[in-house]
Amino acid sequence: MAHRNRSLHPPPKAAGRIALLQPFLAMEVMERAFALEREGADVIHLEIGEPDFDPPPAAVAACAEALAAGETRYTDSRGLAPLREAIAADRERRFGVSVSPDQVLVTQGTSPGLLLVFSLLVEAGDQVILGTPHYPCYPNFIRYCGGEPVFVPTRPEDGYRLDPDAVAAARTDRTRAIVVGSPANPTGSIQSRETLAALAELGLPLVSDEIYDGLVYDGARVTSAAQVADGAFVLDGFSKRYAMTGFRLGYVVAPPDAVRALQILQQNLFISANRFVQHAGLAALERGEDTRRAMCEAYARRRDRLVAGLRELGFGVPAPPPGAFYVLADATRFDADSRRLASRLLEGAHVGTTPGIDFGPAAEGHLRFCYAVDDDRIEAALERLRPALAECAR
Ligand SMILES: Cc1ncc(COP(=O)(O)O)c(C=O)c1O
Repeated sequence: MAHRNRSLHPPPKAAGRIALLQPFLAMEVMERAFALEREGADVIHLEIGEPDFDPPPAAVAACAEALAAGETRYTDSRGLAPLREAIAADRERRFGVSVSPDQVLVTQGTSPGLLLVFSLLVEAGDQVILGTPHYPCYPNFIRYCGGEPVFVPTRPEDGYRLDPDAVAAARTDRTRAIVVGSPANPTGSIQSRETLAALAELGLPLVSDEIYDGLVYDGARVTSAAQVADGAFVLDGFSKRYAMTGFRLGYVVAPPDAVRALQILQQNLFISANRFVQHAGLAALERGEDTRRAMCEAYARRRDRLVAGLRELGFGVPAPPPGAFYVLADATRFDADSRRLASRLLEGAHVGTTPGIDFGPAAEGHLRFCYAVDDDRIEAALERLRPALAECAR
């Protein structure tokens, strides 16, 4: 047999930086939920941050038309010119800041954009400051680039404000950037214009993840880091605002003198975003507003229902979060070990939630619930949770 002659190699040794990465627990819960579904279970997915709405019909049509028309090749590594122009115009419309299309680099989602930016800014021994609780991938990207994340605690009593004085106190001569997520995952918090301006005054590049802008409630408004800082790196994308997670499309808006380095990274790491998907992005910007508005209306209603239901079940929920589509709820009454609790709720009640520890030790004892899920499924999840939690509290 052919394989007999093959020499036996020991398993490949993984590079040391891999051991620095933590698994993304929201994905791990989802993958376990998929396995349960394959066995026939009906799982309610409150774990993953994915809109349940369909993408804008115009985006789907544009993608299909582009494919049929043979738009299947590489593009300029920075993205198709009409899309970059539309992104620049969109940012001007949303935030009143003038952006040149030359500052825009289209990526295969916000995640590759984050990798490009941290690859540019961070080298071995550098530090990057971020508020915590935090989106789990930020510290992993920073560590992957050889850097060290430095966490500044934020508190529900202050609306999870990232205190510029605390950031200044955490700063060292090795600090290279400050990460801001607003509206934030997992807290749904929004940083005020004053806070962002005070952070910008510290003179370090702001890496501003604005992927949840447009999904805000009760008249809340988002300030872009670009409104208060010339040197900000803005990350944004189509996954959340236009329910286009699987399209994989995002972008970076960078200071002009940083674009060339990002372009070189993009050429080498990813070449370009998918051509036909870029056409979908253009259509979403031009004709996707109805989808965003409909999502916002539904999410505001679902947020209120979920917050009330969770409080009634005994979770601690501070003020209703003003943006994104998550509730970070204190679950210590049921189990201080968030991984164990999330696992028990998934296995026993078939309700997927994300363990708070995914968002850092500051969120241990919490669970994150995503409300980008149909109203009926939220009701059903609350029903299922009641007996399961009574079991856990025993
Ligand atoms: C704060 C934040 N940034 C970035 C991402 C990644 O988004 P994308 O689908 O554009 O890669 C997510 C996804 O959940 C997120 O919550």
